[in-house]
Amino acid sequence: MLKKITIKDLIPGMFVHQILEQKGQLSVKSQGRVTSLAIVDTLKKRGVKTLVIDTEKAFSVGSTEPEIKDEESVKQKSFGPKKPSASLENELTRATKLHVQGKRIQKQLLNSVKKEQPFDSSIPKEFSKSLVASVDRNPDALLCLTKIREKDDYLLEHSLNVAILLANFGRHLGMSESEVQDLSYSGFLHDLGKIQIPDEILHKPGRLTDSEMDIMKGHVKHGVDYLKTTDLDKTLVRTISEHHERLDGLGYPMGTKGENISREGRMLAIADMYDALTADRVYKSGMSSQKAFSILLSDAPSRLDLALVQQFIKCMGIYPVGSLVLLSNERLAMVIEQTDSPLAPKVKVFYSVRNGHFLEPKDLDLTSEKNVKISKAALASDYKIDVNAFFERSVSIG
Ligand SMILES: [Fe+2]
Repeated sequence: MLKKITIKDLIPGMFVHQILEQKGQLSVKSQGRVTSLAIVDTLKKRGVKTLVIDTEKAFSVGSTEPEIKDEESVKQKSFGPKKPSASLENELTRATKLHVQGKRIQKQLLNSVKKEQPFDSSIPKEFSKSLVASVDRNPDALLCLTKIREKDDYLLEHSLNVAILLANFGRHLGMSESEVQDLSYSGFLHDLGKIQIPDEILHKPGRLTDSEMDIMKGHVKHGVDYLKTTDLDKTLVRTISEHHERLDGLGYPMGTKGENISREGRMLAIADMYDALTADRVYKSGMSSQKAFSILLSDAPSRLDLALVQQFIKCMGIYPVGSLVLLSNERLAMVIEQTDSPLAPKVKVFYSVRNGHFLEPKDLDLTSEKNVKISKAALASDYKIDVNAFFERSVSIG
């Protein structure tokens, strides 16, 4: 299906059918797949304004379609995914400290918002830079830690996790380092307004009444009003203000529609929903990544940006790092690294379901295992396993 879009909605993976409107000279092929954000930037620089994309050709696996190539963009330094410069073990030591630090800073920020006091933005900003640097050295370390959940710390962990997810997502899309830092930083700050919501509504198990929902929705305005009094960049305030807006205009607080929601706002909405769906709460267990992906997909393209949801799923992988899987030998393992084979990641085996006890943790590359494969995704709650205890025992040592 052909669809007209503006250049600001073009993302890697899309197939450009035709360039409709441009200013200046264009020396790139006008048809083909966009493979990186560097290409998008080049098209912007060359004055492309509107184009037609072929939605049926987007993201097809093993595609032989031509790619839009441009020498200038190839020369640009890409911040995109590359081979990790640190081993998972080494990065986990640093990431564990960052994770603790992130929760502490988030708590301080929430206190400042509650008391309507200013905060020193250099602290969370520096923290966001360190977070993105860790993701750049080895993305799997912080991704594993997103599974550590203290049930009473949802608010702290949710914002931290969304920041980690967005650092990965932005990097996956080939955004520049400073764009990824801004995106991740907006994730870290996106829910600060929730501290102004009464606890009985914020932590209410089950459905909120209409009037409670109205109060809950106010968290976006509380947060944005507060952030406007700080020196935070206006673009970041905008991204944060859009995290509950939906493409059909039925989101809140403004009911902003379609193209008027920024790309960053759409990305934040996806990461926010994914973390909320998969998080264990005091009153319920989080759902599997696969279930969360299907919900995100069912909300697209009407409410969420389909191309971005597809890229998010691609970025996370079928079995995301940090998620648990049941192996065919009745052992539970945590996914610790993606491989070229989406169904056979590297895992850390740590629990025998048959015998009901923990095992000495052992890394396994499922691509080289002939007799062991993943039976299904698993939830710690199904096996009454304390993932935090597992981390203390075997993952984040040091
Ligand atoms: Fe929110």
